[in-house]
Amino acid sequence: LLAACGGGGSASTDSKSAGSGESGSVITLKVGHTLSDTSHYQKGMEKFKELVKNKTNGQVDLQIFPNGSLGGERDMIEGLNVGSIDMVLTSTGPMSGFAPEVTVVDLPFLFRDADHAHKVLDGEIGTDLRKKVEEKTGVKTLAWWENGFRSVTTKDKAVQKPEDLKGIKIRTMENDIHMDSFKAMGAQPTPMAFTELFTALQQGVIDAEENPIPVIMTSRFYEVQKHLTLTRHFYNPSLMLISKSKFDSLTPEQQKAIEEAAVEAGKYERQVVQDMEKQYLTELKSKGMEIIENPDLKPFQDAVKPVYEKYEPQFGKELIDKIRNTQ
Ligand code: PAF
Repeated sequence: LLAACGGGGSASTDSKSAGSGESGSVITLKVGHTLSDTSHYQKGMEKFKELVKNKTNGQVDLQIFPNGSLGGERDMIEGLNVGSIDMVLTSTGPMSGFAPEVTVVDLPFLFRDADHAHKVLDGEIGTDLRKKVEEKTGVKTLAWWENGFRSVTTKDKAVQKPEDLKGIKIRTMENDIHMDSFKAMGAQPTPMAFTELFTALQQGVIDAEENPIPVIMTSRFYEVQKHLTLTRHFYNPSLMLISKSKFDSLTPEQQKAIEEAAVEAGKYERQVVQDMEKQYLTELKSKGMEIIENPDLKPFQDAVKPVYEKYEPQFGKELIDKIRNTQ
């Protein structure tokens, strides 16, 4: 799909902006994400913007578009190769439609904790997966960021065990592994872009959704969902992507600055996720959410075994074991 598109155009310069670049013009890069302007994505982006500005002596400026104002994650990824957007922060969720190889990280209950995930993604496996994304989409990956561990929220019925999900219409990302996992747990998965989710919950089109604590808080899902069970069933990493043609139009110094800034801001953003997870658990309770903090995960892990049987031939048992055994 994406690989078929070429284009992208060169970096736009705005000579009217305060001229701090060598030629006196500022290069503005449009970067989009789907979360709110109080989210971990936005905080990471603001850090990224500041670092890029410092490292390029003001030659490059990031113009941040939060709230899905430039489209859902899938639309924005497609936009990178047609030049409607320069950079996107997206979780790996929509990647099953672009570079299915990378969705090995979306397998349920794969990572023990965030440290485990960071070791895998920042090491050889993460680098190989980034290469796959680049080969398949023609887009450049700058760094791994983070959305976090996803947990289930519901409107009417608390989820203690997989049987409680039976027949529940749950919104999932447009991701095959996510959908298969919820089917295996007995739910009725309904894939949908995040930009449509709040209204769908509000109107009762769906009963449930699943997202990390910082998303549940900053997207105000506590207004339309009563129960949260900390199932932490998928770890959801994010990728900072940049249009290849836009990246190639920058000087080598600007490219290096952006690459370094993306990694540094990603580390900062991961810390924001950790901090928000702790702080917002308490806040969600005070907003009236009933939270099951320590559910017995064994029955959930048993229920998704068929998902591993289905995807093992695709990803290879060796890779899955290598991820699991990373210390
Ligand atoms: O649920 C989703 O679609 C994702 O968690 C989100 C909010 C777009 C972040 O990448």
